[in-house]
Amino acid sequence: MKKPLFSLLLPAIGLLIFSGTTFAQTTMNMAIREDAGPTISRNIYGHFSEHLGRCIYDGFWTGDKIRMDVVDALKKIKIPILRWPGGCYADQYHWRDAIGPREQRKKTVNSTWGMVTEDNSFGTHEFLELCSLLGCQPYIAGNVGTGTPEEMSNWLEYLNFNGSSTLADLRRQNGRDQPWNVSFWGVGNESWGCGGNMTPEFYAGQYKRYAEFCKNYPGAPLKLIASGANSEDYNWTDVLMKNISLRNTWGISMHYYTIVNSWQHKGSATQFGEDEYFKGLASCLKIEELINKHSAIMDKYDPAKKVALVVDEWGIWTDAEPGTNPAFLYQQNSLRDALIAASTLNIFNNHSDRVKMANLAQTVNVLQSLILTDKDRMLLTPTYHVFDLYKVHQDATLLQVQFFSPDYSYGNSKLPAINASASRDAAGAIHISLVNIDPSKKISVRANLQGISWKSVEGQVLSSPKFTDINTFDQPGKVRPASFSGARRQGDELVVELPAQSVVVLELK
Ligand code: AHR
Repeated sequence: MKKPLFSLLLPAIGLLIFSGTTFAQTTMNMAIREDAGPTISRNIYGHFSEHLGRCIYDGFWTGDKIRMDVVDALKKIKIPILRWPGGCYADQYHWRDAIGPREQRKKTVNSTWGMVTEDNSFGTHEFLELCSLLGCQPYIAGNVGTGTPEEMSNWLEYLNFNGSSTLADLRRQNGRDQPWNVSFWGVGNESWGCGGNMTPEFYAGQYKRYAEFCKNYPGAPLKLIASGANSEDYNWTDVLMKNISLRNTWGISMHYYTIVNSWQHKGSATQFGEDEYFKGLASCLKIEELINKHSAIMDKYDPAKKVALVVDEWGIWTDAEPGTNPAFLYQQNSLRDALIAASTLNIFNNHSDRVKMANLAQTVNVLQSLILTDKDRMLLTPTYHVFDLYKVHQDATLLQVQFFSPDYSYGNSKLPAINASASRDAAGAIHISLVNIDPSKKISVRANLQGISWKSVEGQVLSSPKFTDINTFDQPGKVRPASFSGARRQGDELVVELPAQSVVVLELK
């Protein structure tokens, strides 16, 4: 939590007696002000789609067609960017296997995720058609682990060259006349692990070699992203920042997953008590420490913050749903996961001076999905609704929000109960997103909007009676946003009665 620079803001505990029931209620002061903040890049609201389990096949692509129900749902939340084809799979992917007439495409084995046969019916053309239907930017991860600089530079030429060459002409022969001008390219994925078990020194050398052959074709200036650290591996970031050319590097990535118990015993997505609820939120909130520490290292080499920190994989990773293939990473999504998404997005917003892109893992049917599908049915998860509520922050100007959060205590441990972020959009409206992770305490927030003039407030809330509540195909609307009546103007202050375990997004005009 940021240290307050102005006003002394202290929480106070009160006890309300209400209809014979006793509710502990806390009040909290907050100050919000405009301070020439950075723009919150829309790409912080990005997503990730890998050839893993049922993300691509069944999720985006069925019966040789892009699923338009999924496209329409993602367009509604203004998906800005989609990362593909992995993940770990990127470092075993050879793009030429998946172009040309579908019946002639190679059959390969997805040895990363379950040894399943990959018919490659969804390849480069299909992915870029998907992005164009979504109205989002593509972000392609190149193969460093089993590929070559030649393979990656050929892929770039195939996609981005407008002139005549064997590769550009092959693209035309395969049905695409104009180049796609793809800017965002990842140079490998998790090169410290599934991408080749490299040391940071070795990877830095590889990165420079690959980057040299990734060419800027006219109209397609590249934004290269180096494969970055695994969570707290600060040395990785340091070695990269020191050794690679920052001039032709747009960003360095970082991967961090919320893990409730341990990598071996992650825990259920739906069956958990307050112990695992608390641990899940604690693990999620730790990402702020990681961002601070990686950013501090980047500041040493790049004080002007020209190189972005790209959190291109994040989200909660639980055990797979019982009865599903464990290699397919299919998990349900509860109110807890929505609170995790909302809290993480508040953190990203508040660090948007350095975090310029993030991609939740993964969009459909894998890990912390936005959408689950079952044959031709689909449902929107609680996490989807967070992205819907938070889309108002895309490309808005960050405002400063300061407060001392009351504690959410469980046993001998505690966490800040409240997290928040705020922004002003191009039309002048202010949006404030507030999360109360305390599962049993309402919190009354009194916000002083210093020097900001506003007349009206309205909002939406996402909550549910139990933090284990989920949406199912039988009950797809159990956890969904509702209009919020708990915010009002009192004198010059904004007063918000924040329900327990809730996300509230307010609009002030
Ligand atoms: O998102 C699932 C996997 O998690 C990705 O393939 C990999 O990059 C990470 O370890």
